[in-house]
Amino acid sequence: MKYRKLGRTGFEVSEMGYGAWGIGGKQWLGGSDDESEAALKRAIDLGVNLIDTALAYGDGHSEQLVGQVVRESSQKIYVATKVPPKNRIWPARSGTPISEVFPYAYIMQSAEESLRNLGLETIDLLQLHVWQPEFLDADDWRRAFEDLKRSGKVRRAGISVSEHDPDSVLDAVRTDLIDAVQVIYNIFDQAPEKELFPLCIEKNVGVLARVPLDEGALSGTITAETKFPAGDFREYYFRGDRKKQVVEHVDALLRDLGPSAEPLPALALRFCLAHPAVSSVIPGMRTVKHAESNSRLPDLGPLPDDTLAILKRHAWDRNFYN
Ligand SMILES: NC(=O)c1ccc[n+]([C@@H]2O[C@H](COP(=O)([O-])OP(=O)(O)OC[C@H]3O[C@@H](n4cnc5c(N)ncnc54)[C@H](OP(=O)(O)O)[C@@H]3O)[C@@H](O)[C@H]2O)c1
Repeated sequence: MKYRKLGRTGFEVSEMGYGAWGIGGKQWLGGSDDESEAALKRAIDLGVNLIDTALAYGDGHSEQLVGQVVRESSQKIYVATKVPPKNRIWPARSGTPISEVFPYAYIMQSAEESLRNLGLETIDLLQLHVWQPEFLDADDWRRAFEDLKRSGKVRRAGISVSEHDPDSVLDAVRTDLIDAVQVIYNIFDQAPEKELFPLCIEKNVGVLARVPLDEGALSGTITAETKFPAGDFREYYFRGDRKKQVVEHVDALLRDLGPSAEPLPALALRFCLAHPAVSSVIPGMRTVKHAESNSRLPDLGPLPDDTLAILKRHAWDRNFYN
């Protein structure tokens, strides 16, 4: 494993982090708690020391599993979690007052609930789970983060940026109130490279690269016939002719890479780590097999420039979350 600084937090986080949405069990189906626990433990054995979870992932179930594994570990594991919007609307809508999304007392209660689920005394990184630029001047979230930090319940503050809208957080990053951002960054969505990543480098703000496999599109396993369990989030994300579109884009990428290329998931994760602004990439990995193959990737070092140049040509502008 290799480690990078999470911006100005000084946390030395593993290049490969662990995305714990899938193990919440309610939005991603087909896994089991035993397998999730084994995958988390294996990732930690292989040097992973950053886990990203959220109160909303399985209504606290992901946090409970993460907390159990972290409490049993003899190593320092950095836990990042999130305050869900009070109105439970993702992404936040422009024009909705902050009193409906992140009022002060609600943020404080949400942090307490996360701490109870995790069974920990401190959250290393507490992130707002939605963001709108108009929240910037509101006192509520600023005061809540200040008070949580002062009490020692939270160490650092972050924002998880709306889907495919990295520029919405630029003004917040300029304020110095934010220590880390979490943003979609993958071969298909390279938009954070334009404004957000240079600004994060300038302001020394950490970056968690989320959804690095585009919810599985970049795993290379999706075909036009793939079926997800009824009620699984991916049934919605890949609805209609979207699986066919994914196959077309993945096939074009594989053709460009040629027959001797590494497996696509490995290239997709190494792509994220190729950018110097990225502190850690946080794929979902509910199986021991994926935890092992992904956690070993940082040891391979940087992607060769010619491979990176090919991947760069395959940006694909669209929003499947809508
Ligand atoms: N709004 C937000 O703040 C927000 C939104 C979305 C995600 N996130 C964070 O970002 C994390 C990552 O995103 P995600 O989990 O949604 O999607 P993702 O990481 O893009 O993709 C996860 C999928 O890729 C599969 N996979 C992982 N490694 C693989 C490998 N080596 N080979 C083949 N397939 C592989 C996983 O399978 P298995 O799981 O079955 O192993 C899973 O189906 C989340 O867990 C969460 O922490 C945050």
